[in-house]
Amino acid sequence: MIRDYSPQIDFDEVFSFMREILSEPPYDDAREELLTYPDRKMTAKVAVDNGDKSVGFCAATHPYWNNIAIIDYLVVAPTARNKGIGRQLIAAVEATLQDNDIRFVCVQTATWNLDGIRFYERLGYSRLTVLPDYFGDGNDAVWLSRSLLSL
Ligand SMILES: CC(C)(COP(=O)(O)OP(=O)(O)OC[C@H]1O[C@@H](n2cnc3c(N)ncnc32)[C@H](O)[C@@H]1OP(=O)(O)O)[C@@H](O)C(=O)NCCC(=O)NCCS
Repeated sequence: MIRDYSPQIDFDEVFSFMREILSEPPYDDAREELLTYPDRKMTAKVAVDNGDKSVGFCAATHPYWNNIAIIDYLVVAPTARNKGIGRQLIAAVEATLQDNDIRFVCVQTATWNLDGIRFYERLGYSRLTVLPDYFGDGNDAVWLSRSLLSL
């Protein structure tokens, strides 16, 4: 099941598997963002199993005047992958963004994350550009995007 993220209920579980995709410390920015939500302009969803345990998380920020959102986090717990959860999480976040008049969604990931890039392309995202050293020396980022106008 996919439901809205609640920091009070979900933070500990979500942050534990979030650390897997945060390649290096410090984790302070992510911790603060996920704890202060929903005070920030952020749309976040969790996927939970039958025991209401979090197995996936997706969050997008949309702080801009021109109705563009950026997916900041998407992770599915390793044991829950390849079951359609990532697709459901993105769809749920996109639907809420669209309800809030967001027209365009961007996401960035490391160029070495070929699985993540293929996943986004499978969901209709197109490569925009590669930004060298985006994540630090030698760690390039690929930006992808998708229009929500056709949903
Ligand atoms: C990327 C990730 C979120 C995918 O989640 P998932 O729940 O396993 O993905 P789904 O099962 O919903 O797959 C959705 C579609 O993407 C495809 N897909 C998923 N992983 C894929 C891969 N590694 N290569 C190619 N296609 C892939 C699936 O085949 C599926 O296509 P279909 O529905 O048309 O058959 C998950 O692997 C993950 O958490 N990875 C680590 C973090 C990460 O890379 N996040 C994204 C970049 S920040």
